[in-house]
Amino acid sequence: MTGLADIVSKYPYVMFGGKGGLGKTTFSAATAYWLAAQGKKVLVFSVDPQASLSDIFQRDIFGQGPVQIKENLWAQEIDADTHIKAYQNEVRQKILDMYGFDKVPDEIEQYIQAASAEPAMEESAIFDAVVDIVLKGDYDCYIYDLVPLGHALYYLSMAKVYDEWINRITKLREQMRQYEEMVSQLKQEKTTEEDAILTELTYIKSRINASSRILTDRDKTAFFFVVIPEEMIILDTRKAAKLFAAYDVPIAGYVVNRVVPRELLGQDIPPYLRNRIEMQAKYMDQINADLGAQVRALVPEMERDVTGLPMIEKLAGIMYGNGR
Ligand SMILES: Nc1ncnc2c1ncn2[C@@H]1O[C@H](COP(=O)(O)OP(=O)(O)OP(=O)(O)O)[C@@H](O)[C@H]1O
Ligand SMILES: [Mg+2]
Repeated sequence: MTGLADIVSKYPYVMFGGKGGLGKTTFSAATAYWLAAQGKKVLVFSVDPQASLSDIFQRDIFGQGPVQIKENLWAQEIDADTHIKAYQNEVRQKILDMYGFDKVPDEIEQYIQAASAEPAMEESAIFDAVVDIVLKGDYDCYIYDLVPLGHALYYLSMAKVYDEWINRITKLREQMRQYEEMVSQLKQEKTTEEDAILTELTYIKSRINASSRILTDRDKTAFFFVVIPEEMIILDTRKAAKLFAAYDVPIAGYVVNRVVPRELLGQDIPPYLRNRIEMQAKYMDQINADLGAQVRALVPEMERDVTGLPMIEKLAGIMYGNGR
């Protein structure tokens, strides 16, 4: 089995995907901790409004930009609302600049407001923030702590969301053409203005393509799927694996979490724990049959939840091996 450490140390972008509550944030923090300990400059970031990185690091980092956690390790929680506002302002400013208005016309302001209320707009604002962070290239490694069900397919769908958004702007531009013609009769600047908008749209589009290429690039991104030995999760994972294959999304492997150590069977343990271990053994067989060689690590059920640096360090030691 090619271990987690071997894979993770080769990729600049690492992500853990999977259903809610399985351990994505926990693994993201432990991975970031381990990479930082290897001397890499690391950023672990999320767009999760639940501020789970704040919880796990026991620091208030929400919306504060990159916060240093320890040597080589920074954590950042993007506040989507702030980004949406900034995004709106940017759109307003561009409209003002392009058309030489003093004030954004009411219809356009209404449009901006309506567009911002849509989930697609929120997602594109978030996506933009992520792209900015990644393209800036301040760090050696980026660990993107995904929201539940947020997985590589998300990025593929993002490109679609952006396409839609751009199509709408293009339509709006068509609608404004009549108005624009009146303005340009006075100014004689019509072609220049149109070119400016087209240039802008083309720029946005090239950015999306560049970023979704980075984040789904099998040479740069290691995307792991978190599973636990339970029936429903195994069923879901099978479905997800099929989807990934259909969309040609690269998967670097699976990490099995919350495995109750079998060694406990040799000890005097209560029946319920014995039952759990036996139940897990059955599901581990299924996982091995389904995923076998793609399982990169088994992570044990810890004695308590994973919060605070000492617990993160302990888990990182188990996941990646203390010595390496
Ligand atoms: N191996 C483990 N042993 C003990 N507790 C664990 C283990 N893995 C995760 N936990 C705990 O389970 C809870 C959920 O983990 P985590 O927040 O990492 O899941 P998540 O997949 O990020 O959830 P969400 O989908 O809500 O973002 C946390 O309280 C975490 O400390
Ligand atoms: Mg999480």
